[in-house]
Amino acid sequence: LDRKVRQNNWEENNFINYKKMSENLAIVRSRLNRPLTYAEKILYSHLDDPHGQDIERGVSYLKLRPDRVACQDATAQMAILQFMSAGMPSVANPTTVHCDHLIEAQIGGAKDLARACDINKEVYDFLASACAKYNIGFWKPGSGIIHQILLENYAFPGGLLIGTDSHTPNGGGLGMAAIGVGGADAVDVMANLPWELKAPKVIGVRLTGQMSGWTSPKDIITKVAGILTVKGGTGAIVEYHGPGTESFSCTGMATICNMGAEIGATTSVFPFNDRMYDYLKATKRQDIGDFARVYAKELREDEGAEYDQLIEINLSELEPHVNGPFTPDLATPISKLKEVAKANGWPEEVKVGLIGSCTNSSYEDMNRAAAIAQDALDHGIKAKSLFTVTPGSEQIRATIARDGQLATFEEFGGMVLANACGPCIGQWDRQDVKKGEANTIVCSYNRNFTGRNDGNPATHCFVTSPDMVLAMTIAGSLYFNPLTDKLKDKDGNEFMLTPPNVAAMPERGYDPGQDTYQAPPKDRASVNVQVSPSSDRLQILSPFNAWDGKDALDCPILIKAQGKTTTDHISMAGPWLKYRGHLDNISNNMLIGAINAENGEANKIKNTTTGEYDAVPAVARDYKAKGIKWVVIGDWNYGEGSSREHAALEPRHLGGLAIVTRSFARIHETNLKKQGMLPLTFTDPADYDKIRPDDRVDIMCTELAVGKPMTMRVHPKDGEAFDVKLQHTFNAGQIEWFKNGSALNTMAKAHK
Ligand code: F3S
Repeated sequence: LDRKVRQNNWEENNFINYKKMSENLAIVRSRLNRPLTYAEKILYSHLDDPHGQDIERGVSYLKLRPDRVACQDATAQMAILQFMSAGMPSVANPTTVHCDHLIEAQIGGAKDLARACDINKEVYDFLASACAKYNIGFWKPGSGIIHQILLENYAFPGGLLIGTDSHTPNGGGLGMAAIGVGGADAVDVMANLPWELKAPKVIGVRLTGQMSGWTSPKDIITKVAGILTVKGGTGAIVEYHGPGTESFSCTGMATICNMGAEIGATTSVFPFNDRMYDYLKATKRQDIGDFARVYAKELREDEGAEYDQLIEINLSELEPHVNGPFTPDLATPISKLKEVAKANGWPEEVKVGLIGSCTNSSYEDMNRAAAIAQDALDHGIKAKSLFTVTPGSEQIRATIARDGQLATFEEFGGMVLANACGPCIGQWDRQDVKKGEANTIVCSYNRNFTGRNDGNPATHCFVTSPDMVLAMTIAGSLYFNPLTDKLKDKDGNEFMLTPPNVAAMPERGYDPGQDTYQAPPKDRASVNVQVSPSSDRLQILSPFNAWDGKDALDCPILIKAQGKTTTDHISMAGPWLKYRGHLDNISNNMLIGAINAENGEANKIKNTTTGEYDAVPAVARDYKAKGIKWVVIGDWNYGEGSSREHAALEPRHLGGLAIVTRSFARIHETNLKKQGMLPLTFTDPADYDKIRPDDRVDIMCTELAVGKPMTMRVHPKDGEAFDVKLQHTFNAGQIEWFKNGSALNTMAKAHK
């Protein structure tokens, strides 16, 4: 176990630490004294304090030390800007950035890529230069989709990775616990803070039997999504096990783990097996495979490990499934699809078939799809629907270009898009239907929420395997079942498509294609990070001010928010995402969705210094300009929803001091603390009703101490002042964040 095996072929000095991991596990084992699931083994072997950590699934908060961080280009911007404000010379843990989300599909790969490089030049220049400066591996636009690149290069069995994208769990196909997080978590790990995760429950999926014919790995996860629904995996890791796991490819396992995000799972994971070894070997990492074999006992569940829930699937009986429309858990087996589609009035004609994305763009996926396309071509027919292909990486593109699948797709009538997210994330300039026109598309992607792909709420998007996409694209019909239905060849003779039976990996090895990786240079000190001062998309962050050491007296209530206030109400997405690298510009969306308790309206609040009603960000800016600190009063579960660090950065940037609520969503509460704000809750939730929007309040900051309540003195407009008791969850370390102005200021101080 003491070998020096590198984590990947790109970084000289980052090694896989199975020795340390097994030592940590031994400590935890001696404490827990029970068999462990594989998911637990990965997490517990990465504990910051294996001796002292509380460990109860679903209850404790684990402090972990991930092996790596990965960011995609949309989320990387604010993460890196924040990291920069800490003033550290380089990231504390291995990190990569991947340019995949900002490339719009319009007319085909090369031209779309060139256009994206032009439109997003300042973002790419910033990311490339910041990566070079802070020792981060940079994957240029055109390199491919983050999760495919991670699987091909960085994932390894037993590792722990966090990535700022929901489908990071794709790495579970190589036995890694790869977890999607918000930017704030990525910044922590880049800056060497431990990363906190509520100890997940573990859902076991036991696979038996063997797939054949038209069934493919995608059908396992579309089936599981139907069983567990979009909420069923929340707070849990899905752990596949059983003899069936040996029977299909590593990239197939990655597909399954990837789409585990659709059931809300923390991540999904497969145990290390020979199929993973084969993939490691094919991607030039045999040494990792050999090392994993030495440590193999710990790269799977212990005998007798117990799961919080257990699902069994017999692969020999599994049918292809088609999920949707509008939600990925509406699973219909192909044998029932025609009937169900008719009953629901889903449009029969398939307008577009789309394959690829991070979920399904392995060599095997492309090879199977090309075999089906070739079968159609051999019968003299082509795609009836429009057809697009998104290769997952430059390596996949180059390999299928060399091996002929790409030419087959083009002959079949397909358009090959850039190696990027494209239509999967809505980067699709779709021309074939009008907005509002009901229509059907089928794809091998993972998500199919309303409007996701083309912005048209009437588009019925179905998620399925690439094989089914091909079959339906040939038939042009959602009703088509290749297991039972016939097609007509060019002469009108009937025939049935042959189920694909092709290699999972290229016989001649992978062709790396063009060099799209930028390694950090040896001399990083002289690198200048490129941000134009006039940019409206990027802005260098200045550290927030430290606390002045005083109580905050006579603060106005910016808004008393009523009812649900999610991170989307606090920092809306949509068109605002363009500004996610520019804190001042994006702050113009602060709390514009929150409902003002005074008038029941959104984005209309009274400026207490002028008496005028105005937009929330405008009033906050006015207070800030006048040097007035303000507070927000919030309702239950304030800040629920996706972990969006902007929702905490914006109020801090616009001069907020405290957010006082009936309760918080935990991640948002922590994010506020990280930015140096005071998230506080009413000791008696009924006190929320005593506060009027035009009251002034004193926040007794000097009382802040671990486990002690704080006082808020309320000065009603007319009437006597009264005190309200507030609770908080700050620990000693977090109090330092408040005092220093932010968690990053605290890290920066420690480094000086
Ligand atoms: Fe990109 Fe779609 Fe995956 S947006 S990362 S291809 S889920």
